[in-house]
Amino acid sequence: MIKVQNLTKIYRTPIKTGNPLRDFFARQYKQNTALDNVSFKIGENELVGLIGPNGAGKTTTMKILSGILYPTSGNIKVLGYTPSDKKPDFLKKIAFVMGQKNQLIWELPATDAYELTRTIYEIDKREFKKTVDDLCNLLDCTDFINQPVKTLSLGQRMRVELINSLLHRPKILFLDEPTIGLDIFAQTTIINFIKEYQERYRSTIILTSHYMQDVQRLAKRIIVINHGRIIFDGQLTKLINKYSQEKTINIILSNRLPEKFHLPDDIKCEYDFPTLKLNARKENIAGTLAYLLKEIEFHDVTIEDEPIEEVIKKIFTSSQNTASRPK
Ligand SMILES: Nc1ncnc2c1ncn2[C@@H]1O[C@H](COP(=O)(O)OP(=O)(O)OP(=O)(O)O)[C@@H](O)[C@H]1O
Ligand SMILES: [Mg+2]
Repeated sequence: MIKVQNLTKIYRTPIKTGNPLRDFFARQYKQNTALDNVSFKIGENELVGLIGPNGAGKTTTMKILSGILYPTSGNIKVLGYTPSDKKPDFLKKIAFVMGQKNQLIWELPATDAYELTRTIYEIDKREFKKTVDDLCNLLDCTDFINQPVKTLSLGQRMRVELINSLLHRPKILFLDEPTIGLDIFAQTTIINFIKEYQERYRSTIILTSHYMQDVQRLAKRIIVINHGRIIFDGQLTKLINKYSQEKTINIILSNRLPEKFHLPDDIKCEYDFPTLKLNARKENIAGTLAYLLKEIEFHDVTIEDEPIEEVIKKIFTSSQNTASRPK
C-alpha cells in the first residue's frame, strides 16, 4: 500500500546576507536534512504511529506521502501512485488532517463545507448523506454541524474537520497531531473515534501524536523517527521490552518497615510510611516480591511498567549518542 525506499528530503532556505545584489545574483542556501535515507512499508488496514521529537521529520514524511511535498530523492509509491504526481485518482483516495490547521471555512457551518467537498469529490448524494449521518453519530456532532465553524470549540472543530476529510471514504488517512491542544475528554473522543472508524471502514491510518497515550491506544506498530532517521520500526510491545528494563512496585504498608528489612543495592527504594516505592529490574521483580511477602505486611501492592514516555526518552537519548545529526 505504501512503499518508501531511501527517501531523503533536504529543505533549502535562502540565506539573507544583507547585500541585495549578492542575494539576487549569488543567492546562498542553508540546507536542512529533514529526512535522511528513510525506508519502510505499510500494508493495507494498518494503523501506524509515527513518533519523534519536534523537528524529527514526521510532518515532512506525511506531506511527501500525500504528495504535498516533493522528495529530494528516493522511491515512493502510495497505492501504486507516485504521490508528487498529484494524480486526481490518487488524491481522491487519501486524506490529510492536520490538528494545527483549519481546513474548513471559518464563517460557514460545517454542513456547507461538506456540500462543497461532495461536489469536489463527486460523491453520490445518497452515499454522502449516509456517510455524514454515520460519522456525525460516531463523533456526536449532530448538535453543532449547522453552526458557523468559528463559533465551535477546538474539540468540536476537530470533530467536524475529521468528518469533512472522511466524506470521500479515503483508503489512506494521514492524521498529523489530531488531538493537539485538546482536553483529555475531547482527546479520548477523537481517539475512540479513530479506533472505531478504522475497524468499521478498514482504512490504512498513519498517525502522529505527542501524546503517547494516543499512540498506545491506537497503534500496534510504531515508527520512531529522530533527526530524520528511523530508529525503531516494529511492535510497540517489542519496543517496551527492548528498552524498558525496570518496573515499579508501589506498596501501602500496614506497619513500619522492620529493622532487618534490607534490599539489594540495585533496587531503588523510596520510603515514606505508609508508602514504599521500589524500582527493580524486570528480572528481579519475582525475587523482590517473594522477599516482600515474607518480610512485611501490606494493604495494597501494584506493579507498573515504566511510563512509555520515559522509554521513548531513553531511545532518543541513546540514538542521539550513537548517531550525530546529518548536515
Ligand atoms: N518548509 C520548510 N523549510 C525549511 N525547513 C523545514 C520546512 N519544513 C520543515 N522544516 C525542517 O525540517 C525538519 C523536520 O520538520 P517536520 O515539520 O517534519 O518535523 P516534525 O517531526 O513534524 O516536528 P513536530 O513534532 O514539531 O511537528 C525540522 O528541522 C524543520 O525545521
Ligand atoms: Mg509535525
